[in-house]
Amino acid sequence: MNVLVTGGAGYIGSVMSRLLLEKGYDVTCLDRLFFGTDSLKDIADEITVVKDDIRFFDPKLLKGVDAVFDLAALSNDPSGELEPQKTLEINYKGRVRVANLAKKYGVKKYVFASTCSVYGFQDGIITEDSGLNPLTTYAKASMMAEREILPLADNSFSATVLRQATVYGFSYRMRFDLAINGMTLGYYRNGKIPIMRDGKQWRPFVNVNDTSNAFIKVLEAEPELVTGQVFNVGSDEQNVQIFDLAKLVAESIGIPFNYEWYGSTDTRSYRVSFGKIKEILHFSPQYTIGKGAKNVFDAIKDKRLNPDDPRTITVKWYKQLLEMQQFIKDTELNGVIL
Ligand SMILES: NC(=O)c1ccc[n+]([C@@H]2O[C@H](COP(=O)([O-])OP(=O)(O)OC[C@H]3O[C@@H](n4cnc5c(N)ncnc54)[C@H](O)[C@@H]3O)[C@@H](O)[C@H]2O)c1
Repeated sequence: MNVLVTGGAGYIGSVMSRLLLEKGYDVTCLDRLFFGTDSLKDIADEITVVKDDIRFFDPKLLKGVDAVFDLAALSNDPSGELEPQKTLEINYKGRVRVANLAKKYGVKKYVFASTCSVYGFQDGIITEDSGLNPLTTYAKASMMAEREILPLADNSFSATVLRQATVYGFSYRMRFDLAINGMTLGYYRNGKIPIMRDGKQWRPFVNVNDTSNAFIKVLEAEPELVTGQVFNVGSDEQNVQIFDLAKLVAESIGIPFNYEWYGSTDTRSYRVSFGKIKEILHFSPQYTIGKGAKNVFDAIKDKRLNPDDPRTITVKWYKQLLEMQQFIKDTELNGVIL
């Protein structure tokens, strides 16, 4: 089976592509490669990489594709606010385009990489049937895409939405802008775990290998179990308040619990139920938060991860790319780049 992974060179996609290969799938990665190709270099001979944009790629690429995992996006809240119009073009219109084209070209399964942040601030424990309250352009774009993609599902096109918890753990395109990874790096750098104020906010977490496996579970499930369905991806035990999360990270790495506050009070807080994916797909994560944080810490120490790589903070990297684009525009005279 041939699986097309959009955003396959990214944080989740580069781990997912390896897991798919291990399971014997053929993998095609469609990615603008905003973060380069390093994340795929040791599997470059085993997969097909297409450098293109979900908004513009030639749909013929979908011929012979059996399943699409749709991950390409500007992938967090601050990046989504850099140019909100672009975020809507990519994260909303771009993903809807991929889903429509996948259906048109006879792809059997389509899985949309959504996010639990569509729930925004809410009291109580949220299920897939709870109301949505997206607080940012990033979350709104995901909600809007979900609403257009789900009705495409039918007997011949199995479309599924996976609302992933905040992801953590080692990846080949590392992200230190994710809570657990950032706490781990913060401690490594100056002996203090950075905690976003006021620490009482609830957030669900899932390891990058586990969320990748959730996509594969959907792929391998009977269509009647997953078609037109929304699943939260994570586990009830990994809903944590941010202050407690920091304690957990320190404990698992075996370091003293020293911390420092940053930012203004985070308005996003949600506790999510993961009963549906457990019951229907028998999904249960293999990783704990402690194990994930320890893996990241060890990878920094062993120099498998470079904490100074500017690409590991997504919003900063996109800002640099935008500035570079502006610089080229400003310095271009009659087609000559100064
Ligand atoms: N990481 C998380 O905690 C998390 C949580 C919930 C949902 N998600 C969602 O999962 C998906 C993957 O996230 P990630 O953490 O791997 O992000 P990432 O930024 O590491 O990867 C996204 C990839 O998409 C590519 N891309 C961006 N715009 C593109 C375009 N227009 N056309 C083609 N490629 C494009 C980038 O080059 C990048 O390789 C995203 O849709 C994200 O919103 C992530």
